Amino acid sequence: FAKELIEGNQFESKKFENILLPPLVRNLSSIKNFELRPNDTFVVGYPKSGTTWVEEIVWLLQNNLDFEKSLKINHFERVYFIDMGLSKGKMEQLNEMTSNRVFKSHLPIKYLPDSVEKLAKLVYVVRNPKDMLVSYFHFAQALVFANFSGSFELFVSHFFNNKLWYGSWWEQVKEYKKLPNIHFVQYEELLERPVETIKSLASYLDKNYSVSDIEKLISFTSIDKMKNYSCFNFDGVFKTEENNSSKFNFFRKGQIGNWTEHFSLEQSKQVDELVYKHLNGIIDFKYFPS
Ligand code: A3P
Repeated sequence: FAKELIEGNQFESKKFENILLPPLVRNLSSIKNFELRPNDTFVVGYPKSGTTWVEEIVWLLQNNLDFEKSLKINHFERVYFIDMGLSKGKMEQLNEMTSNRVFKSHLPIKYLPDSVEKLAKLVYVVRNPKDMLVSYFHFAQALVFANFSGSFELFVSHFFNNKLWYGSWWEQVKEYKKLPNIHFVQYEELLERPVETIKSLASYLDKNYSVSDIEKLISFTSIDKMKNYSCFNFDGVFKTEENNSSKFNFFRKGQIGNWTEHFSLEQSKQVDELVYKHLNGIIDFKYFPS
């Protein structure tokens, strides 16, 4: 790993095979060699695509909608963020887990455990890139170890130049889209057609829940409720009012179309062109609420 600071701000990164990664990413070979179980599920997505929300839904679908357990145990203990590597202790902990294991990752497929797409269930979360970028911009400003202080313009140019953590968004979407046994969840569909979207996700996971159960799950994972759950504990991760930054809430807006308040016409056109060039015919995005 080479350490990099992106020019003009404090975006601390590690560079590995030309991909910038956040400092928390460790020991990639331990991830590659991690032994999978057939009922493991990986929820993957580029940062700020709604991965945490989908992880929570997947964990509940895989654990008989155990709402009580979900509230009792920190989300990140139930859903391991595998990008942080697998220490000996972590591996033992994961081996002892008797319930269905759910993992989170933002990594390109080549860094995930060998044969993950054949041996485990793979759910990929994708969001329209304009809302994803606005969400990422706010997140990078608030995150203690990113501490991004540049403009939105600079942030967007980092996106085009592959200078955001986890590298090229479009390459990542493209490579995951090619996998035959993967299930895609689009953030906008989950927001606007939650019953159908979760039914189809559940069926990919070989689960069959009634519509009334799914409605309970939707209500339990609404942004207004998730905002107040103590199982989402981000203590120490974000800057606080004490160190002179406005208070950041991880569950920020949860909407489609917030990008219109940040993007210039020119920037919006540039993203449209990029999407057309790389993802035309592969995936369609929704940029406005219905
Ligand atoms: P915004 O910043 O646009 O609000 P990730 O988990 O990949 O980091 O994605 C975070 C984004 O998902 C944030 O977007 C966050 O508000 C949104 N999100 C998280 N939980 C959500 C929920 N229950 N419903 C809708 N959006 C949610």
